[in-house]
Amino acid sequence: MCIARALPPAGRLICLDQNQAWTDIARKYWTQAGLQDRIELRLGQAIPALRKLEPGLTFDFVFIDAAKTEYDAYYELLLPRVRLNGLILFDNMLWGGRLRGEAIADADGRALDVLNQKLADDPRVECVLLPIADGIQLCRKR
Ligand SMILES: C[S@@+](CC[C@H](N)C(=O)[O-])C[C@H]1O[C@@H](n2cnc3c(N)ncnc32)[C@H](O)[C@@H]1O
Repeated sequence: MCIARALPPAGRLICLDQNQAWTDIARKYWTQAGLQDRIELRLGQAIPALRKLEPGLTFDFVFIDAAKTEYDAYYELLLPRVRLNGLILFDNMLWGGRLRGEAIADADGRALDVLNQKLADDPRVECVLLPIADGIQLCRKR
C-alpha cells in the first residue's frame, strides 16, 4: 500500500503472489484505502508469472520478497525490464544474522548468501546491503 500510494497518477503496481487467502486479506485493505485501481494482483507461482509478463513492459521499481531460493531467478527475469537507474530491492538479505562464517544450515540461507555475493560483483547494478530490519539489498541498475 505504501508503494501504491507513492505512485504518480498513471502509475501501476503489479503484485505477484501464490497465496489466495493472504492476498484476499491484502485486497480487502487496499480496496478500503481506495488503491484498487493502481494495484493489479497476479495470483500464482512467481517464476511462470514473470516469464509471462507482457512484451515491452518495464519497471521503475521492483520489490522482491517471495521464495528465497528463487530470488536469483526473479532477479534475472526482471533486470532486463528495469529501466536505467531503476531500483530493485530484496528483503531478508541478512537472514536473521544466520549468514555468518561457517556452513549455512538451510537452503534459503545458502541461496541468499550466494546472491549477496553475486550482487556485490555484478557490473549491471550498484548495490548496498542496508542493515534495516532483516536486511534490504538496494540495487540501482547501471
Ligand atoms: C514474507 S511474505 C511477503 C509479502 C509481501 N511482500 C509483504 O511484504 O506483505 C512472502 C510472500 O511470498 C509468497 N510466495 C512464496 N513463494 C512464492 C512463489 N514461489 N511464487 C509466488 N509467491 C510466493 C507467499 O505467498 C507470501 O505471501
